[in-house]
Amino acid sequence: MAEAEIQSGEKEYFLDIPQKNETFFLKGCANYDWGMKNRLARIFNPRSGKTVMLAFDHGYFQGPTTGLERIDVTILPLTPFADALMLTRGILRSVIPAATSNPVVMRASGGPSILKELSNEHIACDMDDAVRMNCSAVAVQVFIGGEYETQSVGNMTRLVDAGMRVGMPVLGVTAVGKELVRDVKYIGLATRMCAELGAAVVKTYFVPDFEKVAAGCPVPLVIAGGKKLPELEALKMAADAIQQGASGVDMGRNIFQSDAPVAMLKAVRKVVHEGLNYKQANEYFLELKNAKNG
Ligand code: R5P
Repeated sequence: MAEAEIQSGEKEYFLDIPQKNETFFLKGCANYDWGMKNRLARIFNPRSGKTVMLAFDHGYFQGPTTGLERIDVTILPLTPFADALMLTRGILRSVIPAATSNPVVMRASGGPSILKELSNEHIACDMDDAVRMNCSAVAVQVFIGGEYETQSVGNMTRLVDAGMRVGMPVLGVTAVGKELVRDVKYIGLATRMCAELGAAVVKTYFVPDFEKVAAGCPVPLVIAGGKKLPELEALKMAADAIQQGASGVDMGRNIFQSDAPVAMLKAVRKVVHEGLNYKQANEYFLELKNAKNG
């Protein structure tokens, strides 16, 4: 039937419409291959350029953290409201339904427990397995200034090399040891090192003068939530981070340890994707929480 199609009339090439040559929406990511960009565009919303990742990988060194004792009961109801899930492969395969539409950011480093020297991590997930699990990124902890600094940086660069072969972005996670000060100087150093050494995205902590950290990091930054804070404070931290150049959050305890986790996750989304200020977001959180309890 190919001949019949050729003879059936004029073809339309839309000669007056130049083909669009679109640039990629994420800072510092324009020169990646299509597969890498496509994975990043699953994690980051191309309209807002931002993401709300839900982190519940804490068990990889902390065991059953408060709020994560039963991930099937407490976390699965939150997943429809998250842009991406950050977790371990053990939890993915044992608890997360394979029919989920959430992109997965896979924890790919580990080893020591809270009882030992935390910086002594190794790569804990092969790139082949990350591909098999259809992950959208792998995450690796980097301990700048830690006892095993070089080893942890080596974990990251090996994952970056393996990721480049298959189009898998690496999320470099800056871990801050107890003896280190979380300030703009330290966080600026750690995030910049992760980016320079090939992380496509860097996860870090919000600190005063965060805009200098964001300006000095050539790839997207997302912030961790850290220890549970009152919701108003956690929303302020998220809002300040977004205003000062963060491309999203990768938040765990401030969501799953909240009295109203779905309401909190939805309020964080308002801050990240719609630019709501923290007071408006807190009102929204309280409305949702009270409506549920009322
Ligand atoms: C901890 O090491 C994990 O990487 C968490 O994913 C990360 O700390 C984010 O969770 P949270 O918001 O609870 O700090």
